[in-house]
This record gives sequence, structure tokens and C-alpha cells, in this order.
Amino acid sequence: MPHQSTILAFCCTWCAYPAADLAGTARMDYPAELRIIRVMCSGMVHPDLVLTALEKGAAGVMVLGCRPGGCHYRDGNTITLARMEMVEELMEDFGFDRRRLFVGWCSAAEPDRFADMVRRMSARLERLQGAGEEN
Ligand code: FES
Repeated sequence: MPHQSTILAFCCTWCAYPAADLAGTARMDYPAELRIIRVMCSGMVHPDLVLTALEKGAAGVMVLGCRPGGCHYRDGNTITLARMEMVEELMEDFGFDRRRLFVGWCSAAEPDRFADMVRRMSARLERLQGAGEEN
């Protein structure tokens, strides 16, 4: 079972994953709670995977792919956008805050952008958890 602060990131093999790899090689600073799952394309991430990760205790889920127009399967990330909007609605049905899902894009040569997205998601989750503890 994932740790409560775990952020699960589905990264496409052509852009987000190489950017993550570069960020690691360059020793860029990003939250250690990130766990990466490499997928061929962000468009392959089934809604069940997001919901299951949250049900199993992940603090948040990121779906990261190539920039618009840059998907190696042409329209995979367009599919991702539409699908993840649907997932956000499903999340609310299941009682999860929709802000626990982050969808973003970067090129393979943008490790800084990758690290920045992870930092932003981590900060967002901290705020959400802080707000939850106040209630
Ligand atoms: Fe990267 Fe499709 S291959 S989003």
C-alpha cells in the first residue's frame, strides 16, 4: 500500500519520463514522495488506475505527458485531457477532492518543468491535507 504522502506519477515514455530521468541525473530538487510509473502514452492511463491509486492511499496522482501537439501517438494527450476531466468528476462521486489529480505536459528536454510540476503538486497536497486536519 502506498505511503499516505505518496504521489503517483504516470509518465509517458517519450517526454515526461525522460524529463524525470534528466531531473534525476541533474540532481534537481523535487519531492522524494514521488513514485513514477512509466506508460507508453498518457492517453493509456485508464480512469480505474487513478481511482485505485487513491483508494489504496496515494495522496495524489499525476498524469504527465508530451506537450500539446507533441504526443508520439498524435492525439494521445488530447484523449488524456478529455478522460481526466471525466476522472475528476468520478473522483467527486467517490468522495475524493479533484485537486488530488494533476495533469500536465513537458518535453523530454524540460526536467526543470517536470520538477516544478511535482513541487507544485506536493505543495497543493500539503495545503489540502492541512485544510483537512483543520476540519
Ligand atoms: Fe507522450 Fe502520448 S507519447 S503523451
